Amino acid sequence: MKFLKVVTFFVITLSLSDNIQCARILGIFYYPGKSHQMSAVTLMKILANRGHEITVVSPIGEENTPENYRQVVLKEVNEMIPDQIKNYFKLKLHPYIINYVVTTMMIPLINSTLSHPKLHDLITTEKFDLVIMEQLFSDGLAYIAHLLDVPVVYFSAFTDSLVSNPCIGNPAWPSYAPDIYSSYTSEMTFFQRLDNTVIFVINELIRNLVTLPTQNKMVQMHFPGAPHITEYYHRASIVLLNGDLSVNEPLPKVPGAIDIGGFHIRPSKPLPTDLQDILNTAAQGVIYFSMGGNIKSVDIPIEKRTMLLNVFSKLKQTVLWKWEADHLPNKSDNIVIRKWLPQNDVLAHKNVKLFITHAGLHSLLETIYHGVPCLNIPVFVDQLFNAKKTVVGGFGKTIHFDDISEENLLLAIDELLQNPNYAENAKKRSMIMRDKPMSPADTIAYWVEYAIRHKGAEHLKVASLKLYWFQYLLLDVVAFLVLCVLVLILLMKYSLKIIVGLLRENRKKSGSK
Ligand SMILES: *[C@@H]1O[C@H](CO)[C@@H](O)[C@H](O)[C@H]1NC(C)=O
Ligand SMILES: *[C@@H]1O[C@H](CO)[C@@H](O)[C@H](O)[C@H]1NC(C)=O
Repeated sequence: MKFLKVVTFFVITLSLSDNIQCARILGIFYYPGKSHQMSAVTLMKILANRGHEITVVSPIGEENTPENYRQVVLKEVNEMIPDQIKNYFKLKLHPYIINYVVTTMMIPLINSTLSHPKLHDLITTEKFDLVIMEQLFSDGLAYIAHLLDVPVVYFSAFTDSLVSNPCIGNPAWPSYAPDIYSSYTSEMTFFQRLDNTVIFVINELIRNLVTLPTQNKMVQMHFPGAPHITEYYHRASIVLLNGDLSVNEPLPKVPGAIDIGGFHIRPSKPLPTDLQDILNTAAQGVIYFSMGGNIKSVDIPIEKRTMLLNVFSKLKQTVLWKWEADHLPNKSDNIVIRKWLPQNDVLAHKNVKLFITHAGLHSLLETIYHGVPCLNIPVFVDQLFNAKKTVVGGFGKTIHFDDISEENLLLAIDELLQNPNYAENAKKRSMIMRDKPMSPADTIAYWVEYAIRHKGAEHLKVASLKLYWFQYLLLDVVAFLVLCVLVLILLMKYSLKIIVGLLRENRKKSGSK
């Protein structure tokens, strides 16, 4: 009997783990942004390494993929990338309108993904166990999981933010949760809270009046008979967030909101020998300068570039500059240019003293991982917000791209290099990032498999998702209580009137007697 039990136990465990080990996972990553696609590939490769059968639907193909990683490339979506995004220096928007602009820029891309014959072929001829998709104002895409009747896990390229909070019910209250389009921290003054609240309300309105209705229409157009978007837009119980407590301020999260920030960082590899030599032999250390994958240094307007060149020429350090052309006119001898640099391996080198960065999230996470202080030159969207975190953490300084001058650049670089606190704080943050029960890659695998094991993990879903906004804000309860108090006051007033009236009458009667 006991033997039978043991055998049954093993059979069950084996079949369970078997099941999970070769799950068929469909990834949908519609947005062709460089860092988004890089995240997608890294994420799906992590799952492929676990033995899952991966299919990725995305606008850009990846070259080196393992055997169990199949790609369905929707080229047409990539060709639709709006011109506005091509030169980031020209895209400067106020936080009150940026979300509207970004959200509406995404709509044609989502539309084109939803209508693509390759996607339709795939989902009508094949079966999957789970859908994983980037959530970027793209609630309509969750319909694919609804149609396949499988769980969906969201990935967000940001920390907990307006992009993912409403989908999963994170309690991001504008009194202490700063919007990623702002440059605020959790501790805000009255006027910052006011501003943050206005941004919050605008974002809610855009979501409810533009994003959801438009995507509902698109889904019903491309999938006749599809139910209303409210049937499936809360389908995900788990969202993987590109955040980490080493960079983000702590905020309460629902149980299914999982930080996986730093998952893109792989163990550092040896540098190419020419670079290795440059880094080894720089007697005063190296400053690494890169504006990231989306923003190109060659697009920096000439007057700003001249300022940078002048400042760098005054430094004793070697400046390693990611410059996407063959020549950089007027560059001083201490500047070394490369069209591309293995950023993670460069930052891992002990001789790198400072990283001058656009403060994109991936760059920031890498600089924290390697404990290198940074000078942020933010340009766009969440970069200002990210940059602020390095200032709070005491390992960075920020100069907005528009405010660059030779004086403030030189001053900031000097301060960052001379004051040892910055490097110390960077090391402290690095320790926080590395102090984890599980690596980000294992965390991803664990939670994706968890969603499969528990058929979508409904039990993680918070009830606030089912409430109307006025119920969530308890406005109905407050209104009821106010009404009760009013009724009570009126009743008291009325009864008092009656009592006083009776008393008067009594007095009159006794007076007239
Ligand atoms: C989506 O694409 C279809 C064509 O496939 C077009 O008719 C429709 O207007 C588009 N919808 C939106 C909201 O762009
Ligand atoms: C290089 O420097 C010279 C002299 O300062 C200046 O006239 C020229 O415009 C500069 N060229 C570029 C491309 O910055």
